[in-house]
Parts: sequence; structure tokens; C-alpha cells
Amino acid sequence: MEYSRHDIIEMLRSEGRRKHELFRLAAEVKNAAVGEGVYLRGLIEYSNICRKNCYYCGIRCNSDTDRYTLSHQQVLEAAQYAFDNNFGSVVLQGGENNSEKFISDITSLLHEIKSLSNGTLGITLSLGEQTLETYRQWLEAGASRYLLRIETSNRALYGRLHPCDITHDYDRRLQAIKDLQTAGYMAGTGVMIGLPFQTVEDLADDLVFMRDMNIDMCGMGPYIVSAGTPLERYADELQSEQWRFDMTLKMIAVLRLLMPDINIAATTALQAIDPEGRLKAIAAGANVIMPNLTPDNLKGMYTLYNNKPMSFDTKILEKNIRYGEKGDPIHFMKRDLPSNGK
Ligand code: 5AD
Repeated sequence: MEYSRHDIIEMLRSEGRRKHELFRLAAEVKNAAVGEGVYLRGLIEYSNICRKNCYYCGIRCNSDTDRYTLSHQQVLEAAQYAFDNNFGSVVLQGGENNSEKFISDITSLLHEIKSLSNGTLGITLSLGEQTLETYRQWLEAGASRYLLRIETSNRALYGRLHPCDITHDYDRRLQAIKDLQTAGYMAGTGVMIGLPFQTVEDLADDLVFMRDMNIDMCGMGPYIVSAGTPLERYADELQSEQWRFDMTLKMIAVLRLLMPDINIAATTALQAIDPEGRLKAIAAGANVIMPNLTPDNLKGMYTLYNNKPMSFDTKILEKNIRYGEKGDPIHFMKRDLPSNGK
């Protein structure tokens, strides 16, 4: 069924019985399109060094956070843990860094993770905007998926959330997402929900954007105030945390209706508001969970926002977890790409 922008807005505004009906329908559509199972991606927060200065983010280059980068050994131990525990895949995420050393360090890590798992562990990268050439190099080295959130598809709003300079350019970001698709990645994007100045219409447009971009994966979460950031001053003007949480579940559910066979993550930020946040997201249409495998003593330094949860007990989901499966998005497999041999 082709949903119009108007339909999407209506669904995002639903409350009470209609909202629960939406979640139920999304779960049904998910089960039919991608099955009931939940895929695990072990999240490795590689480094909090970042060249960007986004007004919402706790690891922006202008914040006085202590900086770290994991050693190769630490990354490989986390990847080994994921492999030994049958996670199926890992995500290497970090602040944006374009240095030659960074790019080549990631390249060697990709080779090493592939070899420790005999090529079986899926690897997703989430390392910001890079050149098409770098994206290609990393794909060649073993990465197959990449997450790059557009943050908001409203260009004017994007401008208010970021410094107005070449490093934070909306068009450059959009191009980077397209480059990922050109390179042949399974490409994911996402947005923050409940940002200052953001409307329900903007959120509907975000979903239309994802459909138009024909993405394979999505990770979106509620905006959570990060102490000490420039956006903190709008904290009193935001929708309540409960509203942002609920709206995130509705965004997940509607996206599942729009794009039944993509992978949708139940994100950590949901858990910062509600201890059952990620489970509720699974019930509303998500099918991916990213347990944090960053070494315990460093997790606390990757503070994108306040109250970041540090762990997640996968046992709660035990029966539905697809252990040992890479969990590539079915949407991508169906694509008419030369690399798919079609
Ligand atoms: N609240 C919620 N999400 C945030 N991110 C960064 N800062 C915040 C915040 N204050 C998200 C961005 C980024 C991802 C790594 O973390 O969407 O892409």
C-alpha cells in the first residue's frame, strides 16, 4: 500500500487505541516481511574524537570531554566476544575523523575482524562522512553496511542544529549517503525525534525521505538533551521525554509500514528514557538490537547524551534472537544491483 504524506501525519498523530493498532499492524507487517527474529549487532564505540561540532552532541569537538580511541587489541577482543557469542555482526562506530592514519587503521581492523571470524561476522561501519574512495576502500576491506544519519531531512532545521560551514553542510551529508549506495553498501540512515523546532510534519517528511532514498536500514531515536551543548538552552521548550519516546515508536511503526523489508534498529537512546525502551521498539516494528561491547571503563566516555544506558540484557529476548546470523536487510538482497549477480 502506498501511504501519502497525509496518511503518515495522521498515523504519527495517533493516540490511544489507534496508536496500539498501529503498533500491532507494524509488528504483523514485520513478521510477514522479515520474520519475528531479532538480529544482534555488537556495538563497538571505537573513538570519541570528532571533527564535527554539532549543537546537540556530547562528543562535539568543542566539548571538554576526555578523548579516547580503542587500541586494535581492544577492538579485536570485542569482535572476538561477538563472534564467540554468536552475535552475527558488529558495528564499529565513532566520531568523524578523516585523517590518513584513521582511515588506514580502520582498514586494517576490518581485515583483522574478518579473519578472526573466518569471514563470517558481518561488519557495519558508522564513522561519518568520508570520501567515496574511502568508502570503497573499507568495503573492499570487509565492511558491508554503513550507517549515516541525515539527523533531519529538513534542510533549514539541519542548518539550525549545526554550525553554518563547509564541515556541516546538508548537501555534503546527503551526497555521502548517496556515495554509500553507489559504492555498494547496505546503507542506513536515521533521524533524531523531538528536536527543538521540529514539527510532526518534519518527521513525516523524514519518513518520506527514507522511502525516496530507498534505504536498507534505519536507526532513529529520541533527542535527549546533552548537558553543556548549545541546544541545552532549549530544554524547557521541548516536547516531554514521554512524547519523544512515544513518537519514536510511532516513527518506527510507520516506517515498517512504508518499507516492510528493511532492518530497523531499536536504538539505545530509547532505553535512556524507558528501561524497556528497546523491547517496546521491537514490539512496534524494529528488528535489530545493538548490545554495547565497548570495554566497560570506556563506555562512559562515549557520551552522546545524558543518561546513556550501559548495558542491555539480551536474555529478555532470548527466544527471538537470531544467533549466528549476519542479518542482511532483505530489502538490499532484492535490489537490482550488479553486485547481487542480477
Ligand atoms: N540525543 C540523541 N541522539 C543523539 N545523537 C547525538 N547527540 C544526540 C542527542 N543529544 C545521535 C546522532 C548521531 C548518533 C551517533 O547519535 O543522531 O548520528
